Amino acid sequence: MTGMICGTGACVPERILDNSEIAEFVDTSDQWIRERTGVEQRRIAREETTVSMAAEAGRQAVEEAGISPEDIDMIITATATPDQIFPCTACEVQKELGAVRAVCFDMNAACSGFLFAYQTAQAYIASGICRNILITGSERLSGIVDWKDRGTCILFGDGAGAALIRAKEGKQYLPFACSDGTGGSALTCPGYAGKQDGDQKVISHISMDGREVFQFAVRRVPEAVREVLKKNDLKTEDIDWFVLHQANQRIVEAAAKRLKTEIKKFPMNLQKYGNTSSASIPILLNELNRSGKLKKGQKLILAGFGAGLSWGASVLEWGI
Ligand code: UT7
Repeated sequence: MTGMICGTGACVPERILDNSEIAEFVDTSDQWIRERTGVEQRRIAREETTVSMAAEAGRQAVEEAGISPEDIDMIITATATPDQIFPCTACEVQKELGAVRAVCFDMNAACSGFLFAYQTAQAYIASGICRNILITGSERLSGIVDWKDRGTCILFGDGAGAALIRAKEGKQYLPFACSDGTGGSALTCPGYAGKQDGDQKVISHISMDGREVFQFAVRRVPEAVREVLKKNDLKTEDIDWFVLHQANQRIVEAAAKRLKTEIKKFPMNLQKYGNTSSASIPILLNELNRSGKLKKGQKLILAGFGAGLSWGASVLEWGI
């Protein structure tokens, strides 16, 4: 028994913030941002919340899977930016969807959150505890970005993505995941008060040593991919798509180069959305799925990395 993705969804805010607008309030330029990161624009939440985006993405995934909300056994929401401390985002998503039977909890592993939620869902399915699990990654990072810090504010965006995973007969792939708390100071956000009286009350901001995180990602992502390939007795040539966390175009390109694999197997959409943390992998997955690029039976690698520090990768076979 394995878990197969049977539906995907995504929801991004309406409001587009492009590089030239950012250049109006911090000392940067569209050219610098494009050249150093690949990002051209990002979405910024106004009315949208972490819950509303997760619920909408989840609704689409459930609909595509052709199941009813009552069939969902578990909802896991990966988020580092919940609207409130509790009830957790996943319980709010449950309420929105009417997934009355689901057990719900959030998972915070920053940008590795969706990958770890995926691996957790696989473990619950492999053990026979669950048959249908909805995983969502949803972030409202604009609320914790320091809009005066040009080193970070150019990178991030808001949005959510989701995948519905169902128990099916099939090969179970082993995951790879790792964390190193001793490197945690490279990327931090010490406190987050969430929503208060309808406004985001921010008590601290994202702080990052960009170069350190960059080097960490460039080293660890190819390593994670190689580890997960080895664990599953596969080669890079066996993989059709490498779906990496969308942090920086140069990180994705460096990973492709280190893995000696053509860049066209590394899809990117960070140009449009920036780094949406736990939402980036499922937003990209949904885009690939809905545009018909993913074919049944193709092999994918999902790879995440971020604050913690944490990183990892999973192999999956596309089942839609
Ligand atoms: O999910 C994981 C989250 N984080 C990441 O993935 C981030 C990984 N790191 C990065 O993507 C890159 O390190 C950045 C895009 C953040 C920065 O790019 P970089 O090429 O590493 O630049 P740098 O930090 O080495 O800075 C080079 C120069 C500096 O000026 P000086 O000291 O050489 O005079 C910075 O002050 O670029 C300057 N700079 C900027 N200039 C214009 C930094 N940010 C900007 C900016 N516009 N937005």
